[in-house]
Amino acid sequence: MRCISCGSTPDSAGQNFRCAACGDLLEFFFPEWTLAPLDGAKPRHHTEPAALKALWLKRRTSRHALDQSGVWRFRELLPHIPNLEEHAITLREGNTPLYRLPRCARAAGVENLLAKHQGMNPTASFKDTGMTFAASSAHQGRFSWVACASTGNTSASMAAYAARGNMHSLVLIPEGKISWGKLSQALDYGALTCQLRTDFDGCVRILNDLVRQKPVCLLNSVNPYRIEGQKTAAIELMEQLAWEPPDHIIVPGGNLGNSSAIGKALLEMRELKLISRLPKLSIIQAQGANPFYRCVREFGGKKLEPMTADTLATAIRIGSPASWKKALRVLQATGGEVEQVTEVEIAVAKAEIGADGIGCEPASAVTLAGLKKLRRRGFVNPGESIVLILTGHALKDPDFTIKFHRGDLFGGAPIAGAPDEPEAAQAKHLQRAPVVLDAALGAVVGALDAAERNS
Ligand code: F0G
Repeated sequence: MRCISCGSTPDSAGQNFRCAACGDLLEFFFPEWTLAPLDGAKPRHHTEPAALKALWLKRRTSRHALDQSGVWRFRELLPHIPNLEEHAITLREGNTPLYRLPRCARAAGVENLLAKHQGMNPTASFKDTGMTFAASSAHQGRFSWVACASTGNTSASMAAYAARGNMHSLVLIPEGKISWGKLSQALDYGALTCQLRTDFDGCVRILNDLVRQKPVCLLNSVNPYRIEGQKTAAIELMEQLAWEPPDHIIVPGGNLGNSSAIGKALLEMRELKLISRLPKLSIIQAQGANPFYRCVREFGGKKLEPMTADTLATAIRIGSPASWKKALRVLQATGGEVEQVTEVEIAVAKAEIGADGIGCEPASAVTLAGLKKLRRRGFVNPGESIVLILTGHALKDPDFTIKFHRGDLFGGAPIAGAPDEPEAAQAKHLQRAPVVLDAALGAVVGALDAAERNS
């Protein structure tokens, strides 16, 4: 591991996974990929691109649990965990589908739009790809407790992997402002779930103090093992695209671990000549939770000013993102952009992704909303290929969806709050409120006829 700021290379990470010298985040790096093996020594990593690609493809037909995981299948690009067979905890995460989005493509004014649906993971969010790796490393480190602060998905994922690995889990989540779907998962997987009267950033502060007192393993994305596991989404994506990178990849930005991980994977894949060019990685935030947007646009990337965050996309309701420096680095290295989107834009984009038969949770929909803006600004051209990373499943937050379709998402009137936005009219067009009828054939036939006339 090495510190992202001062470059020091500690032998082991402390409880908070921060550099003992300067306090910044740590990351894994792989000198063995570029150094020639010492005389007679067998290289641990065989990094010849064609051989790696063939090996990973072959594992798809294996009956071995680790080969069946869409994370561990790519273990040559991940740090070494000793005694892996004993410690690996896998739910066969990864292996997520890549879908074409024709309706969304028309809405965004582009021809070639795909979505990699990370919500199709075992606990229905992208967190599982990082969690399998970080939970396994905690198991290898003989921890009996793991812990995280979360807006919901990390806690659901951590609780599941802890249960599978016979570890206890402690979840700190903000009271209210987290979806029932996510909370219910943490309970079912047996976590000690503490709803704190604060926001996500407040939960993080308390957890950071807690890990100094108690021997719990911190499984937030400051833990660099999380980032390593999450890299595999990008590796798997390139494999699905026959190692032909798209022009753009667009991700939501909250705590900024995911964008950092995907960017790190892209840079490493290019270094290893698995891909020949880099896609632009762009990061989208909700306007009410936009510290990274402001960091880039207002402060030229020089500082990040924490804020009190507010958005209905509760997964990314984060005012002080831990991994902003890592995300900034990949944004700059890939030539990507940062954008912010309004609540109405998020709601419309979510309904459009739903109308393509895919669906996602609100935080994931910022990707399509952001793409539309990047297209309007001319950063994305109509002929370019784009992949949206959808981070969570539609059923994570059904409340949001039902309120949108009933027209009371913004507190009563249909799309009140920002009626001047062009999206408000589109929202009306997309709304499909349930129709309550008498239990009579004639009533249903009447509803069907009316729907046909309006279609
Ligand atoms: N999308 C979803 C569905 C999320 O749950 C999160 C983060 C993000 C996007 C943002 O990813 O933080 O890596 O930039 N959820 C965290 C949680 C913070 O606690 O579940 P990020």
